[in-house]
Amino acid sequence: MNKIIKKTRLAENVTEYVISAPEVARHAHPGQFIILRVDEDGERVPFTICDYDSKAGTVTVLVQEVGYSTIKLSQIPEGGFISDFVGPLGNPTDLSEFKNILLIGGGIGAAVIYPQAKALRAKGMPSDVIVGARTASLLMYEKEFKAAAKNLYLITDDGTSGVKGFVTDELKRLAATNKYDCVFAVGPMPMMRAVCALTAELKIKTVVSMNSIMVDGTGMCGGCRLTCGGKTKYACVDGPEFDGHLIDWDEAISRSRIYREHESRHRCMLTGEER
Ligand SMILES: Cc1cc2nc3c(=O)[nH]c(=O)nc-3n(C[C@H](O)[C@H](O)[C@H](O)COP(=O)(O)OP(=O)(O)OC[C@H]3O[C@@H](n4cnc5c(N)ncnc54)[C@H](O)[C@@H]3O)c2cc1C
Ligand code: FES
Repeated sequence: MNKIIKKTRLAENVTEYVISAPEVARHAHPGQFIILRVDEDGERVPFTICDYDSKAGTVTVLVQEVGYSTIKLSQIPEGGFISDFVGPLGNPTDLSEFKNILLIGGGIGAAVIYPQAKALRAKGMPSDVIVGARTASLLMYEKEFKAAAKNLYLITDDGTSGVKGFVTDELKRLAATNKYDCVFAVGPMPMMRAVCALTAELKIKTVVSMNSIMVDGTGMCGGCRLTCGGKTKYACVDGPEFDGHLIDWDEAISRSRIYREHESRHRCMLTGEER
């Protein structure tokens, strides 16, 4: 059992959880993730380690409420317990070969780029950061990104905060005057695909973090399978980060939607709504 030490509402549908997990905190690195179960009968759901404190023995995750398990988690109060919390899983990020990195986070992807922004600042090479969301109420961690980034660019689809547009518009604008040697982009798969199409034209190496459907998180079930550079890879053990220009995006997007119909029925059973 792991205790929820602190719970903070960050955006319309995103909650920050600080969870007691001393062993995970001791071994965690930016880029890795955990898998938790809300209760003994719960499904295993993966979340990126957004922050960790090895002295306090805590791990921070940002969770967007999108379906059955994330809504169930949101119903546990501060001080309450979840059944289990396994990690750190996946490989730590290695951006050491790059000098001028642009981080791009779309929606909950901000949770994945924040530890990178912090780590780059700690290494004395703060990066430019673009954070995008559909609307202002979905933006998160503005203060934290301002402290970690060299420059922060906020973008909303509807213009309610920052510049109106998509993260790719801002990427195009920034790349015209900056010599980035790497773009690290995390967000919904269609966003990552659009960023990769643009950076391929601009000839900028691009790393993406793949949020494929995961079950065991140990390379055994095949749930997170994807094709990268013509080879089969497993996001949980070979990733979650990959060269975005080598991903077969049509396959990855189609696999991410495999259970959509089942999941939408699931959600209705929880709320009692008939669909
Ligand atoms: C490596 C990794 C890191 C992630 N980090 C974060 C994070 O930091 N914050 C965050 O809010 N979300 C993160 N996700 C996505 C998160 O795991 C899903 O939103 C969550 O599992 C949804 O569960 P649900 O039961 O609430 O929703 P459901 O109704 O079951 O599903 C809603 C949508 O979530 C996705 N999803 C469902 N089950 C899984 C699964 N087992 N693995 C991956 N995606 C799934 C699907 O796209 C699905 O359409 C991450 C996913 C991966 C693989
Ligand atoms: S989650 Fe099972 S192989 Fe990756």
